[in-house]
Amino acid sequence: MPTETVYGLAADARNPAAVAKIFAAKGRPADHPLIVHIGAIGQLEQWARDIPPAAHLLAAQYWPGPLTLILKRQPDVPDAVTGGQDTVGIRMPNHPLALELLKAFAVIGSGAVAAPSANKFGRISPTRAAHVQHDLGDAVAMILDGGESAVGIESTIVDLTRGTPVVLRPGAITAEEIAATLHEKAGADAPAASHPAPRVSGALAAHYAPRTPLQLIAGDGLLRQVEACLSKGQTIAVLAYSVSPLRHPAVLWFAAAHDAPHYAHDLYANLRLLDAAGVDLILVESPPNQAEWHAVADRLGRAAVGSGVDEST
Ligand code: TXA
Ligand code: MG
Repeated sequence: MPTETVYGLAADARNPAAVAKIFAAKGRPADHPLIVHIGAIGQLEQWARDIPPAAHLLAAQYWPGPLTLILKRQPDVPDAVTGGQDTVGIRMPNHPLALELLKAFAVIGSGAVAAPSANKFGRISPTRAAHVQHDLGDAVAMILDGGESAVGIESTIVDLTRGTPVVLRPGAITAEEIAATLHEKAGADAPAASHPAPRVSGALAAHYAPRTPLQLIAGDGLLRQVEACLSKGQTIAVLAYSVSPLRHPAVLWFAAAHDAPHYAHDLYANLRLLDAAGVDLILVESPPNQAEWHAVADRLGRAAVGSGVDEST
């Protein structure tokens, strides 16, 4: 199903057999928990217990939207969804087709679907129906085409089970925005320090990765690195937002957007094109060191670490 962040591989969150098929299709380790997607804030209590006021504040402010809340789970949430943990990740996606699907599913089923990103484990997340078709093809029964995902990177994950809110995965909604919302509305102390937990596969050092080796290079060193690669006879693909393109037969140059929201919107589609170019090396200009670029920088860092491994050959 389409969502505003990335496409999700959805199964009835109450049906362990259906959820098991997600792990099979993705090739994902079974102890990695999934996000439960709900179609209305009122469904929260069906999945979570001991819900703190911060959860209601954040849901009211950001749902439907690219924010996942980690909460204590209701006892009857299947272990297949939570990875056997006592917590559950929940979000209400902001995409008309996803919301329509969830609404219809509330009439005939549990009204909630568990859905990881609809890519093979560790690989680049899909932001278009064609990406899902390419990655999962016949492994899925149906692909709902909802166009390009508006946000383009996965939701911000905030853990509300540890006393102080903790951002487990940065996203379009920044830690600063979450802190501001909680401070303004609840007078809470500055929360939401970024602090990855081991059970978040999006927090693995290697993730979102192309098969071609990918290097991050600061803008002022980019052209020098390009020249160095060319002198070694390498073919390269470049993704840069500030450095002007270099014309050379061995260089494929992608000009990225200058602002974080547009850059994020195009990021995974660009990474897929760069990877498909069949070059020796992908060079990516490091994004600015600013809060609104934090999520993009996070994904690029993991893409670099996980790159260059092609288990299909
Ligand atoms: O934007 C998104 O969140 C997309 C769309 C489809 O909604 N979904 C997504 O799912 O990115 P996935 O499975 O690729 O990443 C979800 C992350 C995983 O890293 C998982 O470990 C973490 O959320 N997660 C889920 N439940 C959790 C829990 N109870 N505690 C800690 N982390 C959890
Ligand atoms: Mg994923």
